[in-house]
Amino acid sequence: THPINIAIDGPAGAGKSTVARHVASRLHYIYVDTGAMYRAVTCIALDRGMSPDDEAGVGQLAQTLDLVLLPGEDGQKVLVDGIDVAARIRSHEVNRNVSRVSAIGAVRTRMADLQRRMAQAKGVVMDGRDIGTHVLPDAELKIFLTASPRERALRRYRELGDGAGATLDQLERDIAERDRMDRERDIAPLIQAPDARLIDSTGRSIEDIVDEIVDGGLAAA
Ligand code: C5P
Repeated sequence: THPINIAIDGPAGAGKSTVARHVASRLHYIYVDTGAMYRAVTCIALDRGMSPDDEAGVGQLAQTLDLVLLPGEDGQKVLVDGIDVAARIRSHEVNRNVSRVSAIGAVRTRMADLQRRMAQAKGVVMDGRDIGTHVLPDAELKIFLTASPRERALRRYRELGDGAGATLDQLERDIAERDRMDRERDIAPLIQAPDARLIDSTGRSIEDIVDEIVDGGLAAA
């Protein structure tokens, strides 16, 4: 059978990256975490002392940044000028600023361009916010993955290791705020594509959802 492209979009903490990684491994596809790209731009912008509201500066930075994603054994590597920033892009600072950086048109244009190139040969599982709607509108299979706000906060809490100092309520508020900004931005906002299959992961195991996508979704695609 010919390889296809699979787009997995949805709000923060819905389990997209875990599910996407498992789907890719089951199908021997390549997993592309597009959130990591927006996080990398944010991280470098902050390193250079730029404000996330400096549209011209951050836009210019995104245009020229040497950004490479490498699927690795222990997770995806994110190389900026050849240096792996994967560990640094999950910081609280990046979390707090990434939605503002990713609302910048020039940033989105460059990222979408790189993402389309990665998907050219097919056989890619790409997760993000606008993959099914903007980056790969022709993806053969589109999933919109959600979960209740509480469950999404709880996952983030466990990911961080007992919240890493943050309370569950704080994490839930942070996630809600990031989702609001992602949904309300003018360019390529977070929204379910009309032809995407809606999956609510609340109370379900990863395996169960991966099965639904690989067995159910793929058969229909
Ligand atoms: O998926 P993750 O939570 O790592 O994404 C971080 C942020 O990157 C999102 O909150 C959103 O602002 C941005 N993003 C985006 N478009 C994508 C993927 C991520 O705007 N396709």
